[in-house]
Amino acid sequence: MLERYGHGGDLESAAKAYGKDEGAFLDFSANINPLGPPQQVLKQLEGALSSIIRYPDPGHRKFKTILGRKLSVDEDNICVGNGAAECMSLILLGLQPQKVGIIEPCFSEYRQLSEQFNAEVYSVRGRQDKDWKATMEDIGQLIQQVDLLFIGQPNNPNGVQYTLGDLRMLAEIAEQFNTYLVVDEAFIDFIPKQQQASLLSDLNRYPRTLLVRSMTKFYAIPGLRLGYTLAHPDIVRSMKSKQVTWSVNGLALLAGEAALDSDEEFERSTMELIATERLVLVEALTQLGCKVSPGEANFLLVELPNPWRAIDMQRELGLRGILIRSCAMYAGLEEGHIRIAVKDSKANRLFLAEIQNVMEIVI
Ligand SMILES: Cc1ncc(COP(=O)(O)O)c(C=O)c1O
Repeated sequence: MLERYGHGGDLESAAKAYGKDEGAFLDFSANINPLGPPQQVLKQLEGALSSIIRYPDPGHRKFKTILGRKLSVDEDNICVGNGAAECMSLILLGLQPQKVGIIEPCFSEYRQLSEQFNAEVYSVRGRQDKDWKATMEDIGQLIQQVDLLFIGQPNNPNGVQYTLGDLRMLAEIAEQFNTYLVVDEAFIDFIPKQQQASLLSDLNRYPRTLLVRSMTKFYAIPGLRLGYTLAHPDIVRSMKSKQVTWSVNGLALLAGEAALDSDEEFERSTMELIATERLVLVEALTQLGCKVSPGEANFLLVELPNPWRAIDMQRELGLRGILIRSCAMYAGLEEGHIRIAVKDSKANRLFLAEIQNVMEIVI
């Protein structure tokens, strides 16, 4: 199993396991924009290497100004972090929930970070017959039991979105029962604007709702790390009070500023590519006997046909230079579940050819 640290994208483990160079793999196990970073970001970084002799701005001011303008959000509502992952840890440290709710299957850090910070974790399950969503009754009850609830929108690993109506209902219940609602929108940029269900424009109505976003996936800078939280200024202050000064590095801030200023063409090409290629993958995998969950983001949850186990498929593909994420360890998923990123046409076709070969040759 490659998920030694609980995540995809572990090229070092893959290199060891399959006897290849780290650079030799096509990585479908991490969900990063296949176009790579926008040109402006790369240019900015190339020209900025000499700036590493300076400390970064601990107030993240330029980035916050550009972001606030882009999202029409007040700068006091923004907390910038070293990736969405740091934002989650600052939320837990700042708000000190004793009981945290999660909806499984979900991003493993919700549980891991909560337990690291001594919170008790309570969960409800998404149901396969409801596209992996939990019922509103179940989530509503969970909110009443806990101090903070994490919800993925779209959710990892299945890509499902709750409707805006559902989210508003949950935000109302959270206000009523003094619970914080943390909506993880790390992948929302991959969903076309008209289809995004986000509480962004409702934030002032729901002071206990927080949105967590990542710059690392859409702008393809996971190695640099950059994310942010949008929340009530009091929450932002609590988070900042727990943040290590300079935890967000100067190159990440510069890359973020350039990314937000990047032209609309980058967004348009990304959306087009993901929409087209997701369809190609869904159709081909369905023909191979896989069950593909109807997610909306840049990754797909796939159930392999019997008797394939994720762990065996991961190894067979790994030996052929292709990395996939086994999802067998997610609560509520089965041994045959894998997750794959939607990549570019060439990579996706190579993946499809190899998975077909494996299915034909190995069994
Ligand atoms: C659902 C979800 N949220 C947040 C993160 C963390 O994002 P970042 O790289 O910005 O820390 C991930 C990373 O895989 C993720 O899958």
